[in-house]
Order: sequence, then C-alpha cells, then structure tokens
Amino acid sequence: MRAAASRVRVDVFVDAGDTQRMLEHDVRSGLADTPKHLPPKWFYDARGSALFDEITRLAEYYPTRCEREILVREAPSIARASAEGGVRTLVELGSGTSEKTRILLDALSAACGLRRFVPFDVSEETLRAASHDVADAFPSLRVHAVAGDFERHLDRLPIAGRTLVAFLGGTIGNLVPAPRADLLQSLAKILSPGDLLLLGTDLVKDPDRLVAAYDDPTGVTAAFNRNVLHVVNRALGSDFAPDRFAHRALWDAEEEWMEMSLVATEEMDVHVPVMGDPVHFAAGESMRTEISAKFRRSGIEDELAASGFAMVSWMTDSREDFAVSLARRA
Ligand code: AVJ
Repeated sequence: MRAAASRVRVDVFVDAGDTQRMLEHDVRSGLADTPKHLPPKWFYDARGSALFDEITRLAEYYPTRCEREILVREAPSIARASAEGGVRTLVELGSGTSEKTRILLDALSAACGLRRFVPFDVSEETLRAASHDVADAFPSLRVHAVAGDFERHLDRLPIAGRTLVAFLGGTIGNLVPAPRADLLQSLAKILSPGDLLLLGTDLVKDPDRLVAAYDDPTGVTAAFNRNVLHVVNRALGSDFAPDRFAHRALWDAEEEWMEMSLVATEEMDVHVPVMGDPVHFAAGESMRTEISAKFRRSGIEDELAASGFAMVSWMTDSREDFAVSLARRA
C-alpha cells in the first residue's frame, strides 16, 4: 500500500458489467439508426487514450496547448476568486490523468487551503492511478474519486461545503445542445448558490484550422477514430474491418461543430453478435463517431445563464482560439 492510500477513497458507480451493457446499448441503437452513429465516449480504451495523448501534441491540434496557456496565466486569479468564495473542494469532471489539474491544485492549495479533490471519470483504472498520484503530490489533500458517467451519476458526487467544479478540455463540446443543457442543469442542481464552475470550450474559428486539427497529415486522428471499431470488436465480438473505413472530419457551419465520421470504402456486412441481422454498409456510407462543438462567448453566456450560472470571467489564449469561463451558481 502506498503512503497516501489512507487519504484516497474511490466510489464506483460504473463497473465492468455496466460498461459492457452501456456499450452494447449504444452499439445496438447507433447502428440501427439512419444515419448510423456511435458515441465518442468509447474511443478511450488504453490505446485510444494513448492516441488522444498523441493528438494533444500534434502541431495542428491547438486546444490542449491553448487551455494550458490560459490555466497557467489565470491560475492565480481563479485561486483568488475561489479563496474569496471560501472554496474547500475541487471537483473535476472527466478528469482522466488529472495532468492539467495540477496547475489548479497548486494554485488552490496555496491560495485557499483546498481540502479535498474529487476527480470524476468513467474509467476506474485511470481514476485510481490519478488519485494516488495527486495524493502523493499533495500531502494535505484528501482525494475522493468517483467512477461514473457524467450523464447519469452527477447526483452521486460527494458535494459538501464550497465547491469549484472544473470541466476542462472542451469535452462539453461532445454533447449536442439538449444534453449539454441537461448536464449544466444537473450541475446547477447539485451545487449551491456561490459555488463555482470552470468550463473549457473550444471557439469558432477559421474552418481550415478546425479541419486540420481533426484531420492531421500523419493520421493520428484517423487511427484514434478507427480505434472505436477495435473497441467494439473486442467487447462485442463483432468483425468490423477498421481498414475498410476512411476517416472524415467536416466543419458543419450551420451547427458550428466539427463532425468526425468513419466512411465505408466499399459495400460490406458486419457481424455484430448482439444484433440479429448483419449490419449493412453501402459503399461511401458514413457513420458519425463524434461531434465537437465550437463556441462563441455570447452562446456560452446564454447557455450558462439558462442553467442558473452567471459568468464571472472569460479567459482566452492570446489568439482567442480557446476559452476558459469562470461562472458562479446564482
Ligand atoms: C477530448 C473531446 C475535447 O473534441 O477535440 C480530438 C477529442 N477528437 N480529436 C475534441 C478529439 C478528435 C477532443 N475532446
């Protein structure tokens, strides 16, 4: 047992069985639909997470670097606002390896006497590793991790005392407007007036730069996209041939989101044991695997307000490619 183990607690609301059933459900409904689609949350097995990590280091993929620039510059002001509000707990949604969170944890520990870190992620394994790393690095912090799905288990978060919730990376962009509003409303419901929300969002910009960020010349994003087929094959025993699908990334100017798809390069039938009949793909048929919404300041302000949050500060990188918003539960 590690030295910090006594300060780490992990609550698990999604175990391997739940995950299997959720994937099964998503595959059955997504492949039966027209057009076909799969939700992006299934990209992130060990290989998918490693590929995403590689994406964050690509020259074309600016969001991670921009968000880091903002957090490094603004950590003191975020910590000051948190201290003034009396924040004692930092909750992080979709915490992953909690790597960027260190910037916040450092500033908050110094400025406001942070007591507790509550990382929330769908992957129990990632969560356990990250929790112990943080507990080792911050000897005065208790870590109460929660393994759950942020569309279903937010009400299981241990919220007590003044709280700052961080939802970084632009991950909220994976949701279309209705589930996005649901998520913000669920957050508002578990928080109290005066609690804070720190939200990372990618911004609308030149479509050429957006497309380049989601269709890099070295094919890392293509491999990340096709990885979902490996994940489905392994979990459900299906026989998708990933090399018979082309990676496509398109800017939807109407919706203002990037849409990532896998396009069948030839006609084929795929066998998916949990589905009765073979799943037919026409040549050129596309299956959507992700949307990544891009935002404008006014839109974010409106969405926050509609869910009971008032924007406190709007922080961007120097090129205004990405924004981190600090908002207060009204
Ligand atoms: C992790 C959801 C923020 O939408 O930019 C990266 C995932 N997809 N390249 C994003 C992703 C393709 C990423 N998020």
